[in-house]
Amino acid sequence: MSKTESASKRRILISSALPYANGSIHIGHMLEHILTNIWTRFQKQRGHQCVSVCADDTHGTPVMLSAQKANVTPEEYISKIQQEHEQDFEDFLVKYDNYHSTHTEENKFYCELIYNRLKDAGHIAVRNISQLFDPEKQMFLPDRFVKGSCPKCGSEDQYGDNCDSCGATYSPTDLKNPVSALSGATPIEKESEHYFFKLPDFEAMLKTWTRQGHVQEQIANKLDEWFDAGLQEWDISRDAPYFGFQIPGTKDKYFYVWVDAPIGYMASFKNLCDKTEELDFDDFWSPESDAEIYHIIGKDIVYFHTLFWPAMLKGSGFKQPTKVHAHGFLTVNGTKMSKSKGTFIKARTYLNHFSPEYLRYYFMAKLTNRVDDFDLNLEDFVARINSDLVGKYINIASRCASFITKHFDGRLSANLPKHQLIEEFQQSSEEIARLYENMEFGKAVKTIMALADKANQYIANEEPWVKIKASESAQSVQEVCSVALNLFKILTIYLKPVVPETAEKVEAFLNLPSLQWDDINEVLQDHQINKFKPMIQRIDNKQVEAMIEEAKTLDENANTTTQLADPIKTEIEYSDFDKIDLRIARIAKAEQVEGADKLLRLELDLGGQARQVFAGIKSAYEPAQLEGKLTVMVANLKPRKMRFGMSEGMILAAGPGGKDIWILNPDEGAQPGMRVK
Ligand code: MSP
Ligand code: ZN
Repeated sequence: MSKTESASKRRILISSALPYANGSIHIGHMLEHILTNIWTRFQKQRGHQCVSVCADDTHGTPVMLSAQKANVTPEEYISKIQQEHEQDFEDFLVKYDNYHSTHTEENKFYCELIYNRLKDAGHIAVRNISQLFDPEKQMFLPDRFVKGSCPKCGSEDQYGDNCDSCGATYSPTDLKNPVSALSGATPIEKESEHYFFKLPDFEAMLKTWTRQGHVQEQIANKLDEWFDAGLQEWDISRDAPYFGFQIPGTKDKYFYVWVDAPIGYMASFKNLCDKTEELDFDDFWSPESDAEIYHIIGKDIVYFHTLFWPAMLKGSGFKQPTKVHAHGFLTVNGTKMSKSKGTFIKARTYLNHFSPEYLRYYFMAKLTNRVDDFDLNLEDFVARINSDLVGKYINIASRCASFITKHFDGRLSANLPKHQLIEEFQQSSEEIARLYENMEFGKAVKTIMALADKANQYIANEEPWVKIKASESAQSVQEVCSVALNLFKILTIYLKPVVPETAEKVEAFLNLPSLQWDDINEVLQDHQINKFKPMIQRIDNKQVEAMIEEAKTLDENANTTTQLADPIKTEIEYSDFDKIDLRIARIAKAEQVEGADKLLRLELDLGGQARQVFAGIKSAYEPAQLEGKLTVMVANLKPRKMRFGMSEGMILAAGPGGKDIWILNPDEGAQPGMRVK
């Protein structure tokens, strides 16, 4: 910190959990990003240095497999997803100071550094373990990729880590009749060497750390349960093939994704430091630093952030988090988000129907600083926006502005007496700031809306619309409206972290530069304002219905894979597959079709039977090239009348299109008419 800056200026680094680069952002994720963003904007508005970072969490088996499925490299896959994520955040007015990726040089650097330091200090153990291995795919299977019958209750089709039916947890090697979810093969048990982080080395430190105000009370209690159960060494390695960083000094071992994921917070910050003069990495991360580090996370990933992460940091000589703040899970209309109900709502789906500020406000209004789950009730959402934002807040300005514009040349009163209401609004500042600071967002909203009620009550009592009609009271309307607009300005400062776009419109309307928190104390007098324009629209349930309809058309499990490649059609039974009769056919004749852009007419010899087929491969082949070639055809497809004649089957071809379409070309030995399957 430079000497000229005030000593009270805090330096804060804040992060949201890094979303997996394996699917779209949904409104459950948005809860977290909005929370982080509101708090960040609040701190900046208060004049503190508050740097927010995030990144995509890119490593691990699911990403590797999704990329394979989409037929792209993992790098291409994650880059496409990151673009989508960043766009979603931006459109929700969530502006990170830096948004990075875990698949980067910075992350590799810190990952290796931390690992090497832990290793040198004796915190890494190596030993063999036995795991399920897919002999067909030639890879070890993560728990979620093994299915079988529960060893306790016998329920079929259960994952390798726990049973949905009886709740038992077990290891995948305990499953009865296990199968690989990747290939359907029966996995075998195989030994391999694994690397472990010796978490128990840090037990004493963690027990103290937990009770020093770094975590919420509910979390501290949960941690006590974990301490009682005993801390275990943590398996931090995965065998190749794996999309991730190789462990230094090994040939085919990779860091488990959860090792490099939190290090991604550092990497994103480092990347920003390298772009920004005023920021220095060690200034924040050295153990002596008085900067504050905040991590905002969901309740499902508390273990990683309150045990492994502080221990890794301690063991490698870095600063530990000041606060790990966990929030609960979002439900919609009282239940888990569900595709069939249309309540699995992606960030983009929401944005197609509503302004981001509505959800920001609703989340803010309902958030506590506890770890409880959180319900988005869509009817309540509509009612809340209309009553609070439109009915209470904006209403103050829309009721008063036109009097000032029409009757007083757009000028506020020159001399506002010390007005008791304005003072009351100003005096609430520290209480509201304290609530923001402690992430008691719902309470902050309550306090702010109680003030808005008072402002409206004041206007109702003063009745400017009556006073303006009588000559003896018309002049007092300027004062009443000037007071009300001053109250509106203060409310705007309080709400700015939640509704930043509206706040900007208010700044333009009130003819003011960007409002900071301290501007609360300055009263607007003899001040020119601009014409009022509507700033927030009322919403109705029809818009909610339209959003739900759109959400229903999206596949809950579909991630961006399906946007990268052609989606795979609905699974079919073997009996459906068996109906298809695939035969070798010889292309006896191929010719252009007059008037057709894409089609060639083929005469196929099926070993005695002749067939005419129109195939869309004109862009890739000259007819002469095809004659005499063998290919595979669907021989029992119902003949279809096309514009140019009957098509009596279909030949199999693959490729992206244009010049690159390849007809299936069986090897020699195939005879026309031969059955292929
Ligand atoms: N990649 C890990 C985090 C690594 S942090 C070093 C991960 N990713 S995630 O995409 O599954 O989740 C990202 C964040 O969103 C987590 O904090 C998670 O708790 C949160 N949420 C995911 N679904 C949620 C809801 N339905 N409701 C609220 N938060 C939710 O975990
Ligand atoms: Zn069971």
